Amino acid sequence: MRKPLIAGNWKMNKTMAETKELISAIAPKVKDADCDVVVCVPYTDIQTAKRAAKGTNIKIGAENVHWAQSGAFTGEISADMLKELKVEYVIIGHSERRQYFGETDETVNKRVQAALDAKFKPIVCVGETEEERESGMTETVLLRQVTEGLKGFKSKDFDKIVIAYEPVWAIGTGKTATATDANNTIGYIRHVLAKKFHRSIAEKARILYGGSMNVKNCKELMAEEEIDGGLIGGASLKADDFAFIVNYDK
Ligand code: PGA
Repeated sequence: MRKPLIAGNWKMNKTMAETKELISAIAPKVKDADCDVVVCVPYTDIQTAKRAAKGTNIKIGAENVHWAQSGAFTGEISADMLKELKVEYVIIGHSERRQYFGETDETVNKRVQAALDAKFKPIVCVGETEEERESGMTETVLLRQVTEGLKGFKSKDFDKIVIAYEPVWAIGTGKTATATDANNTIGYIRHVLAKKFHRSIAEKARILYGGSMNVKNCKELMAEEEIDGGLIGGASLKADDFAFIVNYDK
């Protein structure tokens, strides 16, 4: 059985003061959650978020990690730096990184390795653009992103690796994949894991849906067999909305 996971992705939002306020507001509302609860925040908010989440069931994650231990990589962050802050999760390969900052399957692969070496749980994002979907390329794109991005990882690594299927056209647009569509596509990703890695990996890997998941559609999405959770952007910035999604089964 795969334990469901609901993760917030704050992106470039919230100051430290706002972080303290939001985590403190979320905590009492999600304390009886049956799923794993994760909030991924900007680097400058991590320490504040960790403090505010202390003694609660909320786990804190970062939004990226570099593969090098240290060096001349202006604007990047190393696993050692995040380790001192005791983050448990890290988002890797988000479509915004791929779209605006030149992230590739190869760099995703290196970042996942660095995250695993530091004992973080990487949340690896994959997903097709609108153009790719319309030209019938969805499966080709996902096949490439999953096999290249996760190349070389072994069964035990998939105890930690979480995959997030985020169709790019659904992110921040209010357009959601239908529950059936999301379920089928995640089923396809699982099929890729079985074929290119191992059946046992396909069975245990947690695969989330992301892209305009909100209070209105979360129950329907979470009812689908292949969907093990959600990566939530916009709705994770409001305590009530995020808590509602976390408590989707209540
Ligand atoms: P959204 O973002 O929920 O605002 O669409 C999801 C994501 O980008 O992870």
